[in-house]
Amino acid sequence: MTTLTIKRPDDWHLHLRDGDMLKGVLPYSAKDFARAIIMPNLVPPVVTTSDAKAYRERIMSALPEGMSFEPLMVLYLTEDTDPADVEAGFKSGLITSLKLYPAGATTNSQSGVRDFDKVQGVLEKMAEIGMPLCMHGEVTDGDIDIFDREAVFIDRVLDPLRKRNPELRVVMEHLTTKQGVDYARSGGDNLGATITTHHLIINRNAILAGGIKPHYYCLPVAKREEHRLALREAATSGDPTFFIGTDSAPHTDELKEHACGCAGCFTAINTMSLLAHVFEEEGKLENLEAFASLNGPQFYGLEPNNETMTLVKQDAVVDYPAKIETVAGPVTVFDPMFDVKWAVQ
Ligand code: DOR
Ligand code: ZN
Repeated sequence: MTTLTIKRPDDWHLHLRDGDMLKGVLPYSAKDFARAIIMPNLVPPVVTTSDAKAYRERIMSALPEGMSFEPLMVLYLTEDTDPADVEAGFKSGLITSLKLYPAGATTNSQSGVRDFDKVQGVLEKMAEIGMPLCMHGEVTDGDIDIFDREAVFIDRVLDPLRKRNPELRVVMEHLTTKQGVDYARSGGDNLGATITTHHLIINRNAILAGGIKPHYYCLPVAKREEHRLALREAATSGDPTFFIGTDSAPHTDELKEHACGCAGCFTAINTMSLLAHVFEEEGKLENLEAFASLNGPQFYGLEPNNETMTLVKQDAVVDYPAKIETVAGPVTVFDPMFDVKWAVQ
């Protein structure tokens, strides 16, 4: 039996949803993660500090008795976002970051940004007060192939935006390409990047080979194997640029197994077991703590957690449910297609 004890991890990109779904999924994140960056793509989105305050209260009241969890609230950047509201929310400690969705890039992103000039005032304010910007890095132009959207975003949007705002702290979220890894690595201290659990495990064959598999469809979509290998190398390297953001994004089975299925993999429940498996496969178990528990707080200027988590590699396969039942409906758990032997103790 092998055991590994690390500082308790945080999740730097999480979808908790609202209402019945929130109640159904929150306990799984709160069990393993001390804190999480909470994505604001609700319907309607979380756009003002007062929206975020109300959402935070709904999260805290959905938390089962006896569990501790700190939601780090994020505002959805729109072309109408008020820099004064952003500043007040950040300085009060309620708001941790802003999320930039290019309009149309993913689930509930229609209120996102079309004209970057319109948000320049907010970006300047954020740079001034040291507030990070979380970025969904994909262009949405219909003429750009979906598998190229991240690489094109770097050239057309991210790099010019960072040159215009060199003091702005940016998180490239859910990297899926070698180009993303290379850009993040060369970006200096103001640039960080999250990598999801599922993008370390699947490439695009999981979605498309041998029949269409909607539970592996997420955005940005998984790419070719060479990209997955670049992500694994980056995540397991110990480089402080990279940290876990699960992008655990629950949708009911009805909405996933659909003619126009929703994007998202639900990984809140098994992420830590799967990461231990991946890091062990790469011969880098010693760097799991940096990726899951140290690099994220460092980028966000927070202390790592005091508590610890112990992972145990057992002989028996860990018995995760294939689905969880929520009042909103069943949600399929991400299946890594290998036997999971690492359990969170
Ligand atoms: O797969 C995804 N699901 N990617 C996103 O960017 C959004 C998320 C969701 O909210 O369902
Ligand atoms: Zn997301």
